[in-house]
Order: sequence, then structure tokens, then C-alpha cells
Amino acid sequence: TMMRAQLHCLCLLILYLTAGYGQERKFSGPLKPMTFSIFEGQEPSQVIFQFKASPPAVTFKLTGETDGIFQIQPDGLLYHNKALDRETRAVHKLQVSTLDAYGATVEGPVPITIEVKDINDNRPTFLQPNYEGSVRQNSRPGKPFMYVNATDLDDPTTPNGQLIYEIIIQLPKVNDVMYFQINNKTGAISLTLEGSRELDPIKNPSYRLVVSVKDMGGQNDHSFSDSTSVNIMVKENIWKAPEPVEIVENSTDPHPIKITQVQWNEPGAQYSLVEKEKLSTLPFSIDQEGGIYVTQPLDREEKDSYVFYAVAKDEMGKPLAFPLQIRVKVKDINDNPPTCPSAVTVFEVQENEDIGSNIGTFIGHDMDEENTANSVLEYKIVDQIPKLPKEGLFLVQTYSGVVQLAGQSLKKQDTPQYNLTIEVSDKDFKTLCHVEINVIDINDQIPIFEKSDYGNLTLAEDTAVGSTILTIRATDTDEPFTGSSKILYRIIQGDSEGQLGIDTDPQTNAGYVIIKKPLDFETVAIHNIVFQAENPEPLVSGVHYNTSSSAKFKLIVTDVNEAPQFSQRIYQAKVREDVAVGTKVGNVTAKDPENLDISYSLRDNTRGWLKIDPVTGEIFTTAPLDREAESLYRVQVMATEVGGSSQSSIASFHLTLLDVNDNPPRLAKEYTGLFLCHPLHQEGTLIFEVTDDDQRSFPSPHFSYSLVSESSQNDWKVSRVNGTHAKLSTKHTNFEEGLYSVPIRISDGGRPPLEGVVSLPVTFCTCVEGHCFQPAGHQPGMPTVGMAVGILLTTFLVIGIILAVVFIRIKKNEGKDTVESAQASEAQPLRN
Ligand SMILES: *[C@@H]1O[C@H](CO)[C@@H](O)[C@H](O)[C@H]1NC(C)=O
Ligand SMILES: *[C@@H]1O[C@H](CO)[C@@H](O)[C@H](O)[C@H]1NC(C)=O
Ligand SMILES: *[C@@H]1O[C@H](CO)[C@@H](O)[C@H](O)[C@H]1NC(C)=O
Ligand SMILES: *[C@@H]1O[C@H](CO)[C@@H](O)[C@H](O)[C@H]1NC(C)=O
Ligand SMILES: *[C@@H]1O[C@H](CO)[C@@H](O)[C@H](O)[C@H]1NC(C)=O
Ligand SMILES: *[C@@H]1O[C@H](CO)[C@@H](O)[C@H](O)[C@H]1NC(C)=O
Ligand SMILES: *[C@@H]1O[C@H](CO)[C@@H](O)[C@H](O)[C@H]1NC(C)=O
Ligand SMILES: *[C@@H]1O[C@H](CO)[C@@H](O)[C@H](O)[C@H]1NC(C)=O
Repeated sequence: TMMRAQLHCLCLLILYLTAGYGQERKFSGPLKPMTFSIFEGQEPSQVIFQFKASPPAVTFKLTGETDGIFQIQPDGLLYHNKALDRETRAVHKLQVSTLDAYGATVEGPVPITIEVKDINDNRPTFLQPNYEGSVRQNSRPGKPFMYVNATDLDDPTTPNGQLIYEIIIQLPKVNDVMYFQINNKTGAISLTLEGSRELDPIKNPSYRLVVSVKDMGGQNDHSFSDSTSVNIMVKENIWKAPEPVEIVENSTDPHPIKITQVQWNEPGAQYSLVEKEKLSTLPFSIDQEGGIYVTQPLDREEKDSYVFYAVAKDEMGKPLAFPLQIRVKVKDINDNPPTCPSAVTVFEVQENEDIGSNIGTFIGHDMDEENTANSVLEYKIVDQIPKLPKEGLFLVQTYSGVVQLAGQSLKKQDTPQYNLTIEVSDKDFKTLCHVEINVIDINDQIPIFEKSDYGNLTLAEDTAVGSTILTIRATDTDEPFTGSSKILYRIIQGDSEGQLGIDTDPQTNAGYVIIKKPLDFETVAIHNIVFQAENPEPLVSGVHYNTSSSAKFKLIVTDVNEAPQFSQRIYQAKVREDVAVGTKVGNVTAKDPENLDISYSLRDNTRGWLKIDPVTGEIFTTAPLDREAESLYRVQVMATEVGGSSQSSIASFHLTLLDVNDNPPRLAKEYTGLFLCHPLHQEGTLIFEVTDDDQRSFPSPHFSYSLVSESSQNDWKVSRVNGTHAKLSTKHTNFEEGLYSVPIRISDGGRPPLEGVVSLPVTFCTCVEGHCFQPAGHQPGMPTVGMAVGILLTTFLVIGIILAVVFIRIKKNEGKDTVESAQASEAQPLRN
């Protein structure tokens, strides 16, 4: 009892001490269902709660999963006398009842739940001290091939039971490269990218790992750890790309035909093929043993090789490894006959060609593989029509296909055309091709002019360009409408300026001589022309053009009086606008082709600013110029022949006037409404704008401002705001109501500077809502109130008189015509 009492006191003391802190938590109270959380491993003899009994209850009873640890005192103090262990029992379900003095239950049993909170009091432990595993070379990185597994009795929902795995040693380790990785949560071991690439059972068939596991998420200094050893065998990878396959095209064997095989390292893989190129159909398939088949006969001439991939997947459809590339080459067979280059091959041969001359090269085609016996062709002439003058006029070289003249020279007059049949053969096939050989004429005739002299022709120099002035003709007896008989005419003498041209009529070979550029008597008056007629085709050797292929012609150009010519269409000059009257500003000159004298005059001299010297063409000013009136002054200059037919021509003269500072600055607009509110409470300010009619000097004229009179200098000050605006401000506030006129001097800062004096009107007035309220009578033209009333009364009076007159008239007419309207009454006097 002593112990009990002491414990009781101690506990109550603790209760009271702690109760002072957390207000939410009560350490004593009536009996009701409650839940308590207590850390495991704490010192024993801990008070949990003080239950209060209500009469008639006098004592308490504890039942349930006490495990001999929980106890309750008769006065209701619940405590435990040993450390708790979560791993033994995580939740204790207790019941408390109150009893009366006779031991009968008064209240309860009431459930009281004790949750044991975890502390990290258990080490993680690997389930096995050693693990054995194996992995295939080239396995997909990150795909687990084995697991290690550790347990920790602590609560897995708290960090105490959260385990983190880590590989701490890999043996052997070359160049510090890790081949293996572990999932730190699941313990799954897989290859790294390097491991997948580099592991090789021939170099090193086994590895050893040391794997650690830590609790507390591996983050805490107080975490426990364990380690285990993992031995891994590296096995050879049989998932390898097979050798390239050759398939003979156009196979007649029943399909599909197995062509190669792939195999995943373990059974149970799902195989499929993936195209590399986009084909309408892939003529290959794979079965579930990894056998690869061709499903139909292939055609090398359509496609001579295939590349595609074999893929192995697991049951979940995830790739097990990298796809394998499968290469198929289609082998040629001679399944295509030779073909002719076209339905008819046409060659031409000139008559008179020597024996052995090449006529052309005949090339057949074969779709089978190039540079194999399947496509090497042989040529042979098997027929010639007509066999005139004899058979065997032509031969073809067996392999090159060159066709040559073999028998004798040909004559077009005798046989203009031969048809040959050439047999083209490969290893197995023969094809007959049709060849047409046309015998063509040669250029052995020269054009002969119909006459050697076309005589004299006189033309005025102004004969229109494009006029046909002469028709010439030569004839050529070679085959018509060929380059051997067509005639091109050239002028080989007498037209160095290229003023004439000759067009040939392709049907008749007539030549039309045409003026291409204006003739000019002053340059050349007589043209001694020589025409030459030629063929576009060269003549055969031994034949030459002679004098019969040329003809002469004399063109005599006569003079026509022409107008004077200016050297330019527009003459331009520049001058300052302030030049003295009589200054020379420019000159124009014209020349007469006939060398007559010229007289100059001006036209459109609208402002009369200029005059021209009629003889020299010099232009002078005759009045002061003004750029502000016209900055570009344009006049017409007329040049007229003196004598002759007085022909004339016109040019323009443009005179640009350069600006001179000859305008004083002025106000940009009329300022009538400037006002300041009276009385003035502070400095008043007004902004006004200034301008200058001279050409704006860039960036802007530099105006400066000053007050003119001394009196206004006492009242006002003026200053520049920016290039165009200035500010007028008051110097004091004692202004009378009324209109002030402030004279301001503005200088434009030009060279030389010009000044202007402007007067700025400023009204001081009483303001109503910021607007100037003008006292009555101050502004002329605006009626005062008195005047307005007067006007109104007068108006009423006049209206009154008019109404009275009308009324009297109506009264007078009453009785005579009462139905008449007021409108009609006005017309009455006319009817009477
Ligand atoms: C690890 O072991 C525990 C307990 O034996 C088991 O529940 C769990 O499934 C195992 N995990 C793995 C990945 O084998
Ligand atoms: C566990 O691995 C994940 C990703 O693999 C990583 O983000 C995490 O930081 C790792 N945890 C520890 C404690 O190393
Ligand atoms: C296959 O060969 C036969 C003769 O061997 C030929 O007639 C046929 O055109 C060929 N087919 C193809 C697609 O080349
Ligand atoms: C040659 O063949 C063509 C048809 O291809 C025919 O029109 C022509 O008359 C033949 N020439 C000779 C000389 O037989
Ligand atoms: C052509 O003119 C020349 C002089 O220019 C003259 O000698 C010749 O007789 C003239 N010929 C004809 C055919 O008028
Ligand atoms: C020019 O050659 C042709 C034949 O080619 C001949 O008929 C003609 O007489 C020759 N003319 C001259 C001037 O020699
Ligand atoms: C005026 O004309 C003369 C020749 O007539 C020439 O030398 C001179 O340069 C011209 N002057 C002007 C301003 O065009
Ligand atoms: C000059 O100042 C006036 C008043 O402040 C303003 O309205 C105007 O835009 C300014 N002009 C320039 C070119 O800045």
C-alpha cells in the first residue's frame, strides 16, 4: 500500500504538471470509450489515464488484452507496468467497468484501445545470406532479372520499416563502370546501359555484388543496415541477327518458304516483324518459334533487297531486347527478254557516205540484273528490205550495237529508205526489233541569185522603220525544206550601222529587205550593199559559194529637213531664291541636223521670272524669286530653225529654288481665346505655337523669344518649350481684369537671323468651372440681358399686330362666306 500510495501521488503530480500544458488533452475524466497511443519500449510504470467513478460506483475493473502489462487501481488510475512491444502486439483492446460496493457492475465494460507506436527497434535482414542469379548478355537495360529481399519487423508505414537497397560493391569493376543496378525500393536487379552493351561471358562469365539494405529510408544516422552477397552468371545471348538471306526471284515452289530463324534466350517470347521501309505489303512472316518465312514469289526487277526487324516481346507486350535487323537480297534469274529501244528506231545516212561509216548505235534493254549473263545482249541483222541494190548493205557489231554501212555508198534517188530487222538476244531470249534507215540528201548545191544587181533605190531619210524596201530571191536545188536548201540572206557590205535586215520566207525562199533602224542622210547618203545567200547546213567538201551567191544593190538616201535637237529632254539648275535680278541661272543648247541657226524662246513662263537669250540659249532671272511661292519653277524652251521650214522642238527647264531665310517667325495661328482666371492665385502659364514659312531647317528652327516693352517685362516672362512651342508666364498675381496685349519678339536663329514681333492677347477674367465668364457688355456682338429682353418684347409686339390684323379681316368677311378657310380668305379679294 505504501508503494501504491507513493505511485499514486507521483502520478497525480505528473498529471497535474502535464495538464497545465496541453489544454486539449485531459488526463482524467469520466469513464467512456477512449483510444491512447503509446510508444513501444518506454520505461514501465507509466500512467495512462485517471478515470473518475460516479456513485454508486466505488471501484474499477480492467479486462481484455492486458497481457499482464496493463493495470487499473481501484481509484481508476490506468497504467502499464512493463515496456510495450509493437512487434508483439500492435493494438491492445481493453475493457474497463465500474463496480459498486457489492461488486456489481455499474457502468461498462467500456472499450479502451491502446495503440502501440513503433520505434526503430528492429534491424532489416536479408532473407538469404547469398543470392544466385544469371543474366543474358545484351539483356534490355532496366529489365529485372532477379530480386533480393529483406524484412524489417518495424511498422512498414513508418520510416522505421522502410527499406532502401543499394549495390555497394561490384566485382570485378573495370574503368569504374557499373554494369548492374538495383531498384532501391523493390530490390530488383537489372543491367545498366553499359552492362547491356559490354557484358560478355567470354571475357568474364561471373560477377559478385554486395547489396546493402537500410531502414529509416536510408536517410537517418540511426538507421540499421544489413548486407548480402549476390553471384551473377553471365550467359551468352542467342538473340542475334542472322546472316543476310538470299532468295531467288520468281520461285515456283509452294509458299511460304522458311528462310531464316531468330530465337529469344528463354522460351515463351512473342515474335513479330516490323517494317523498316514503308511497303504496301511485307512479303515475310514470323512464327511463334521465331522462324521467318517468305510468303510469295519475289521480283528482283521490282525490288532487289529488303530490310526489316524481328522483335521479341514478353507476355505483357514489352520488348525483351533490341530488335534484330533481317536483310534479304533477291537473286536474279533470267526472267526478262530483251526489249527494243522503241517500236521503230530511225537512223539517217547521207548519200555518198563511205563504206564503214557509222550510221548509229542500236541499244536494246534487259531488265535483269546488270553486268550478269542475264542482261548481256547480242545483236544481229536478220532482214533488210528492200534488198536493193543488194543484200548485206548494213552490219551491226555483235556486242556494241554500232550499225555501219557495209556494202556500198547509197543513192537517195535509187532507194530513199531501208527497213532492217535486228535480232537482240540474251542468254535465253530473242527479240526482233525494227530499224528504219533513211537516206538523206547532202548539201552539194549553192544558192544562185536570180540577178546579180538589184539596181538603184532612192529613199527619203524619214522612211518608216519596218518598211519593206526590196524583195530579193535566190534558188537552191538541194532537197526542199531541209537545211541544205533553206536560204539565209546576209548583207556583207554597205550596212555597217545595221539599218537593214532581211527576213526569209520559209516556203518560197524569198528575202524581204526591211528598214530596222532610221536611215540618216547626214551620216551615210549612199549605201553600196552586197547581199550573200547561204544555207544553214555546211556545204559538202569540195563545193564552195561563188559570186553567183551574192548580189549588189545601191540605196540612195535623200535629205529631209529635220527639227533642231536638244541634247537633253529636261535641263535642271539650282539657284538661291535671293539671287539678284539678271543673274544667269542656266543655258540650253540645241543643234539642227541641217546646221541651220537656232532661235530660243521660253513658254509657260507663268510668273515671268525668267528670260532666255534667243541666240545663246542662256537663261537669266528677270524678277525676284520666291521659294515660298514656288520651289520648283518649270518653263518650256523652244528651239526654232532660223530660215528653212522653221521647224521647232521643245525641252523643259527646271529651276530649283534654294531656300534663304527671308521669312520672319510668326504665330502658327490666330490666338483670340487665351485667358487667365482672375484674381490670379499663382503664376499663370500659357503655351503658344510659332512657325516660320522658310524651308524647315532640320531638325527644327531654333526660335528664341524676348519681351519687347519694359512694362511687359515687369509683368511677364517668356521661354522656349521645344522647337515649335513657347511658354508665356506671369511674374506676379496683381493683374486687373481685362484684356492685355503682350508684344513678343521672336528670332528664328537663321543665317542671317530674322526677327518678328507678335502680339499675344491675354484676357484676365472671372472663371466659372474653368471657363472664362465674360462680364456683360464686354464683348461686342453678344447681346446683354437687357438687350435680349428688348428684342423679345419687340418680337411679341410685331406678332401681336399681325394677329390683330388677321383677326379684323376675318370678322369683316363673316356672314358672306363663313365656310371659307383662313387660307381661302386671303384669296378672296382676287375673286371679287
Ligand atoms: C519479400 O519478402 C516478403 C516477405 O517474405 C514478401 O511478402 C515479398 O513479396 C517479397 N518481395 C519480393 C519482391 O520477393
Ligand atoms: C531511390 O531511387 C529513386 C529513383 O530510382 C531516387 O529518386 C531516390 O532518390 C532513391 N532513394 C534513395 C534513398 O537513394
Ligand atoms: C517469272 O518467270 C516466268 C518465266 O520464267 C516469266 O514468264 C514471268 O514473267 C516471270 N515473272 C516475273 C514477275 O518476272
Ligand atoms: C518500212 O516500214 C514502214 C512501217 O514501219 C513502212 O511504212 C515503209 O513503207 C517500209 N519501207 C520500206 C522501204 O519497206
Ligand atoms: C545608179 O546610180 C549610179 C550613180 O549613183 C549611176 O551611175 C547608175 O547608172 C545608176 N544605175 C541605174 C540602173 O539607174
Ligand atoms: C558558181 O557555181 C555554180 C555551180 O556550183 C555554177 O553553175 C556557176 O556558174 C558558178 N558561178 C560563177 C560565177 O562561177
Ligand atoms: C552654256 O553653253 C556652253 C556652250 O554653249 C557651255 O560650254 C556651258 O557649259 C553652258 N553653261 C551652262 C551653265 O550650261
Ligand atoms: C512641343 O510642346 C507642345 C506643348 O507641350 C506639344 O504639344 C508638342 O507636341 C511639342 N512638340 C514636339 C515636336 O515635341
